Formats: sequence, structure tokens, C-alpha cells
Amino acid sequence: MIRKCLFPAAGYGTRFLPATKAMPKEMLPVVNKPLIQYGVEEARDAGLQHMAIVTGRGKRALEDHFDISYELEHQIRGSEKEKFLSGTRELMETCTFSYTRQVEMKGLGHAILSGRPLIGDEPFAVVLADDLCLNLEGDGVLSQMIALYKQFRCSIVAIQEVPNDQTHKYGIIAGEQIREDIYRVNSMVEKPKPEDAPSNMAIIGRYILTADIFDLIADTEPGKGGEIQITDALMKQAQSGCVLAYKFKGHRFDCGGAEGYIDATNFCYENLYKKGL
Ligand code: G1P
Repeated sequence: MIRKCLFPAAGYGTRFLPATKAMPKEMLPVVNKPLIQYGVEEARDAGLQHMAIVTGRGKRALEDHFDISYELEHQIRGSEKEKFLSGTRELMETCTFSYTRQVEMKGLGHAILSGRPLIGDEPFAVVLADDLCLNLEGDGVLSQMIALYKQFRCSIVAIQEVPNDQTHKYGIIAGEQIREDIYRVNSMVEKPKPEDAPSNMAIIGRYILTADIFDLIADTEPGKGGEIQITDALMKQAQSGCVLAYKFKGHRFDCGGAEGYIDATNFCYENLYKKGL
């Protein structure tokens, strides 16, 4: 079964400069919790226990976040403030964290391939932590996708419809609809102009990938923006086997930019923080 979740987290976060000049974008807080922790919680809630994080230069704060901070913890021991650390401590007790570095920024496909030594030869999930996904009504997005994986045993991408003039920001899929919320992918293009887009169904930052994706990425030439794209490797997988696209239930916020980040903050403040969740 799926045990591991890969977090590509080496990107520069240029849309959030200057905040991300010396701080990883994955550490930006939504209310009082960093984006990476929302992602790890979603993975843990989906039954995944091994968190594999692909970091880069300037990303040490990510490792420190999931580690003991002796001085601080000693200082607040026995006080009211300890409760603020309980969520992070619980993750540290129930999950393992392993790290590797992406030395050169050559795209999302390359970042995923850099995580191969942490994943090995088994299917795995991928979370892009700056896409914050929340479902207040039921299972989180990864849980929904893992349930599908159990049924179909192939790679799955999460999708959402976007306005036609936004296709240039996403990987866009087209395919044969096999259930109200599932498509069998037959076309996939990375960040097309609206006139070149095969549909308006955009990939968002949640993937289930079978292990053969690594060899496919290794054989993938640089594509859009001169980067090695996971979208191109997935297209090859779709041609030779099966890739599904799943219209998930829940909210997704693009926290890589100011607008989505503010929306996420307001949403989390009202629906989680104020309610003590
Ligand atoms: C990446 C993927 C893209 C996907 C997006 C989701 O792009 O390459 O296919 O739609 O994540 O957030 P990025 O946003 O890293 O440029």
C-alpha cells in the first residue's frame, strides 16, 4: 500500500519575495501553522507515515520544524503555551521525516526524481505544500485519492476546473470521463495558452504516482520553461498505461501568491482557528 509522501520543497518562492528571501515558502504561516504542516497533516490523515522532503539551499527551517527545540520547549514546559506545540509533537511521534536536497532547480519532475532514494520502488503520494487543500465536510484530498488508488492501482492527479484565461498557470488534462468525478487521461499539457489548452481542467498539487514514473522522468527531456516537467512524464505513462484525473472534494488555495494566501488565511481563521481546530 501507499506509505510514503514526497514533498518537493526546494523552489524559490519568487512570487512571495521578499518574504521568501531567507525563509522557505513552505514555512509561511496560514494563521499560526506553516504550510508544510498542513500538508504533512493531510498525508498523516490519509494513513501515510513516512514523509520524504526534497529541500534545497536555505531550507533548513523545514528540518528544524519537525525536530525538538530544546531551549524553547524547556522554557515553556508546564505552561499554557505548551498546547501550541502539541500538534507538531504528535506528527513527530507518529511519522518519520527524511530529507534529500535538490542541488539544481531543474523543475518539478526533476525534484520528484531527486526524491527517488527516499521512496524506492513503491507507489507514493506527492504534495505541493503551497497548494493548501482542505475539506471540512469529510476526508482530505489525499485520503480521497488513496481510496481511488486502492480501486484502480495507477497514477492519479487531482484536478479542478479553472477559468479559461488561467490555463497558462497549470498542467491541463483532457480525457475520457469514466465516472462523474474521474477522467482517464489521454492528453496533458504543461501551462498551455488558452488557445492551446485541451480543456480547462487543471492539475493541482496532489499526485499519486506509481514507481515506474521515476524511469519515465529520467527519460524526459526539458519541456516548458526549460524544466523537466512531471506533466510530460505522466503523459508518457498515460500513453503506455493508465493515468487518472480526479475532481476532488474540498477547497484548494494557491498559497504561492498573495491572493490565494489571504483567502486561505481568512478561511482557516474562520473555520479552524476560531473553533480551536
Ligand atoms: C506545478 C505543475 C503544474 C501544476 C501545478 C499545481 O506547477 O508543474 O502542472 O498544475 O504545480 O500547483 P508550478 O505551480 O510549480 O509552477
